[in-house]
Amino acid sequence: GGGMAEEAKRAAAWAAVENHVKNNQVLGIGSGSTIVPVVHRLAERVKQENLNVVCIPTSFQARQLILQNDLSLTDLDRHPELDVAIDGADEVDSDLRLIKGGGGCLTQEKIVAGYAKCFVVVADYRKNSKNLGEQWKKGIPIEVIPMAYVPVTRALTRRFGGGAELRMAARKAGPVVTDNGNFILDWKFDKIHKWNEVNTAIKMIPGVVETGLFINMADVVYFGMEDGSVCARQ
Ligand code: A5P
Repeated sequence: GGGMAEEAKRAAAWAAVENHVKNNQVLGIGSGSTIVPVVHRLAERVKQENLNVVCIPTSFQARQLILQNDLSLTDLDRHPELDVAIDGADEVDSDLRLIKGGGGCLTQEKIVAGYAKCFVVVADYRKNSKNLGEQWKKGIPIEVIPMAYVPVTRALTRRFGGGAELRMAARKAGPVVTDNGNFILDWKFDKIHKWNEVNTAIKMIPGVVETGLFINMADVVYFGMEDGSVCARQ
């Protein structure tokens, strides 16, 4: 993104870390570009205030960020419940529904957020929308087991319309392979749905691992605005 969006991401990240991180917490670390200033600010606070926090990653990228910033890495085996999970989103609607998975990390992100007492989202002003799909035009990411991607694509578009595409890798001949060894379908829907019902129905299609629809999960979203301020929606 441009300089303005980078500043907005940083402001949102700072607000989230300021308002939600306390001593002795188990934290979930999301994926994407907005999580980078979150981890930087978290690492600063851990050093300055000598905080004792442990971090659970949602991706290979998040794991690298945790290690590179000298934060302590843990997992759901040791800490099956988190105090706070912080993550970005591709889009946020007026009911705090999210589209996630633009970076392909939706499944681990949903697991970590789902076992957190509080799920905090950080975003810049470009992610803010009234209805899903108004801002994020690339469709809803759906992680699928590789052998099933063709029948899942057919079932999805027959039942719910629109079109779905296998996400292809940028610098490799072939599909994107997730951290879990699966493929991603980007489902471009052609109308507004009852997202809660559609999400459940998609998850029931054999071969679907997880969807990038996060419904009734976010507790608060911090939007970094164009003027440098931060706007919280909860
Ligand atoms: C990763 O798969 C996504 O769910 C990210 O959380 C989302 O794409 C936000 O990324 P940015 O902060 O880079 O926009």
